[in-house]
Amino acid sequence: MFVALAAPGDRVRVRVEREQGNVLFASIEEILTPSPVRIEPPCPYFGRCGGCDFQQLTYEAQLAAKSEMIRDCLHRIARLENLPDIVVTPSPDAWRYRMRAMWQIDQEERTIGYYERGSRRVCDVVDCAVLRPDLQARLEAVRGTDWAEFPPDLKHLDVVAGEDDVSFAPAFANFETRELSLTVRGEVYRYNAKSFFQINPSLLGPLIDFALGDATGESAIDLYSGVGLFTLPLSRQFRRVIAVESNSNAARFGRWNLRDAGVDNTEVFTANVAGWFNEVSTGDVDFILLDPPRVGAESAVIKGILDLHPQQISYVSCDPATLARDLRKLFLGGYTIRSIGGFDLFPQTHHVETVVRLMA
Ligand SMILES: C[S@@+](CC[C@H](N)C(=O)[O-])C[C@H]1O[C@@H](n2cnc3c(N)ncnc32)[C@H](O)[C@@H]1O
Repeated sequence: MFVALAAPGDRVRVRVEREQGNVLFASIEEILTPSPVRIEPPCPYFGRCGGCDFQQLTYEAQLAAKSEMIRDCLHRIARLENLPDIVVTPSPDAWRYRMRAMWQIDQEERTIGYYERGSRRVCDVVDCAVLRPDLQARLEAVRGTDWAEFPPDLKHLDVVAGEDDVSFAPAFANFETRELSLTVRGEVYRYNAKSFFQINPSLLGPLIDFALGDATGESAIDLYSGVGLFTLPLSRQFRRVIAVESNSNAARFGRWNLRDAGVDNTEVFTANVAGWFNEVSTGDVDFILLDPPRVGAESAVIKGILDLHPQQISYVSCDPATLARDLRKLFLGGYTIRSIGGFDLFPQTHHVETVVRLMA
C-alpha cells in the first residue's frame, strides 16, 4: 500500500483511494503517532499543490527514502540481488534551487501555479519555496500582469533561468523567449525555454563526473542529448561522438554549443532515437550514454544499444521504475553493474536522478 504524504515510521489511519492490481493507494485520515523524521511542512500549499510531496520529511529522511526507492526498483523490477548501499548526493540547496518550471494558468479562475495533487485544477501559488529567487521574482511579475495581456489560449508557461536572465515559452506581454547561458565544469551551454534543461544546476558537475567518469576511447554516443549537457564533455574524452535529440530547437543549440566550444569531432542528429537506430550505421561504439525522459527508452532503443554492444553504458534516469525495467533487458543482454549513484536534483519531491554505469 502506498500512503501519500506519509513519513516512514508514522502510525496513521488511512483511507484507500484506489486499487490497481495488488497495489492500494491511500491517503492519511489521521496521524496517530508521528514518525521521528516527520516535520511541519514549511510551505502553505503543501498537500494541495501537486509539486512537493516530501516536505513532511527531514532532508536526511528524504535522501534515505530516495536511496531506498532506487534500491527497491532495482531489486523488484530489475531483479538485482545483493545491491550495494546507494548513495544519494544531496543538493547544496534544499530550497530555492529550481531554475526551470512549468506554470499552469487558468484564465477563467484567474489562477497561476501548479496542478493540485491528483487533479487538473490549478493551485494558485503566490510564493513557491523551491523556485530560485530570480524565477520567484518572474512568477510575481507574471502574476502582476493584466489578464487582458494573456493570449486567450495560454494554459501553461515554460520558464527557465540562466546565469543572468530568464526565458519564457511561449513569449507574451514583455516575457520573451530569450537565449540564456550557463557554465558547468567550464563548458558553456546556451539554451532557451523551448528546449529541455536540467532543473537544479548545483549538482550538474557531480552528475556529469559520475556519468562519464574517466571513460575514453574511439567513439561514444549520447542518446536523448538535449542541448548537449553530456555531449560536450564526451567530445573531450572520445575521438568521435554522435548525439541524438528529437527536439529541433534543443538539437540546434547542441550544435551551436559544440561549435562555440571549438569542437569538431561531434555530430548532432535531430531524430527520434528509435527511428535513428534503423537508419544510421555507426560502426563500433565504445560508450553509450542515454538520458531518456520519464517513460524510459523504447524497446527498439534497448535493442539498438544491444546490437551495437558498447563496452560501457551509462544510463541517466529521472525515474527509477522505468530505469529498472530497461536495465533488466540490458542485464539479460549480458551487461553487469559497475556503479550506481543517486543525485538529489529535486529536493522536497519524491523525484530522484539515478545514474547506473554498466559494463559488457
Ligand atoms: C531528460 S532530457 C535529457 C537531456 C540532456 N541529456 C540533458 O541532460 O540536458 C531528455 C531529452 O530527450 C529528448 N527526447 C524525448 N524523446 C525523445 C526521442 N524519442 N528521441 C530523441 N530525443 C527524445 C527530449 O527532447 C529531451 O531533450
